[in-house]
Amino acid sequence: MAFKELVFSGVQPTGNLHLGNYLGAIVKFVELQKSHQCIYCVVDMHAITQPHNPADLVANIREVTAAFIACGIDPKQHIVFNQSQVAEHAELAWVFNCVARMGWLNRMTQFKEKAGKDRENASIGLYDYPVLMAADILVYRATHVPVGEDQKQHLELARDIAQKFNNDFAESIAARGFGEGFFPLPEPLIQGPATRVMSLRDGSKKMSKSDASDYSRINLSDDADAIAQKVRKAKTDPEPLPSELAGLDKRPEAANLVGIFAALNGTSKDQVLTDFGGGQFSQFKAALVDLAVAKLGPIGAEMKKLSADHAYIDAVLRDGSDRARAIAAPNMKAVKEIIGFLS
Ligand code: AMP
Ligand code: TRP
Repeated sequence: MAFKELVFSGVQPTGNLHLGNYLGAIVKFVELQKSHQCIYCVVDMHAITQPHNPADLVANIREVTAAFIACGIDPKQHIVFNQSQVAEHAELAWVFNCVARMGWLNRMTQFKEKAGKDRENASIGLYDYPVLMAADILVYRATHVPVGEDQKQHLELARDIAQKFNNDFAESIAARGFGEGFFPLPEPLIQGPATRVMSLRDGSKKMSKSDASDYSRINLSDDADAIAQKVRKAKTDPEPLPSELAGLDKRPEAANLVGIFAALNGTSKDQVLTDFGGGQFSQFKAALVDLAVAKLGPIGAEMKKLSADHAYIDAVLRDGSDRARAIAAPNMKAVKEIIGFLS
């Protein structure tokens, strides 16, 4: 059976939205609006898998929503909402808990990184996080999922869960007229020069919301001065920029800045090296400051303005949640019938 193409993705409201979130995910969310129907979710239920402060969480939910809109997502043409307002996510996650295997979850590298050494003390929610993520996508029977490189393994798990559900209940699914399978196998969309933006202080570490050093990342809320300072202080090496891509091998910090420039400018790393190869880093950094300030400055300003307007943001999320629920509810009803619940 052919599934109607539908885009779904999510961002956690855990503070410090940064350039990695923007280039790895949100820029693609914006582009996909032209070609697809899109659903973008503020995944607040994922945000409570680690200790959190309630006052910060509610502010962060509004801030991510404001960032989506400030970056160019249209909440009228598409759907923007927060996960906890659509109960079907949690409901399908429970069914998927009974489909997914312990062995599959035990392989998840993000859990190992986030739980660290004290794994006994991690929440069950943190362990189960990828199952909820599969439910987020599949409760809409979404087919395409734009994400950064770090989410690839979770997307593979979502495909495994969809496949196993389709196999385990094949007869019941066919009897209800859903053909070969009820769930599509969602495709990750991981493309472009910045699918993994690295820390500005250490080219071997991912840029992350939780890094203790604010100089490791450019936040979407940073003003022009902060952006300029962070780019100027970004770690580099003493060599000039190479003219060819191969010259970036074993130079992670240089490769990262070239990737950031290319992604912000909508070009390729090759083109950036054609323009700046052979020149000094200081010249390239000055150009990167101008570019980053021009692209991110207006987004930060708009984001601040919008996130202060609680009435507007909350209305967007309520409306989005109503429209999301209208898609999720009939799918959940079908799942219940397929697995033998009375619905
Ligand atoms: P999160 O902040 O973990 O909810 O991530 C939201 C989106 O941003 C996901 O699609 C991630 O894959 C993406 N993302 C997070 N950090 C980075 C990074 N350093 N580089 C590229 N994409 C990222
Ligand atoms: N786990 C994702 C992240 O940390 C966020 C997320 C939750 C998500 N549910 C999703 C992304 C569904 C894509 C689709 O980045």
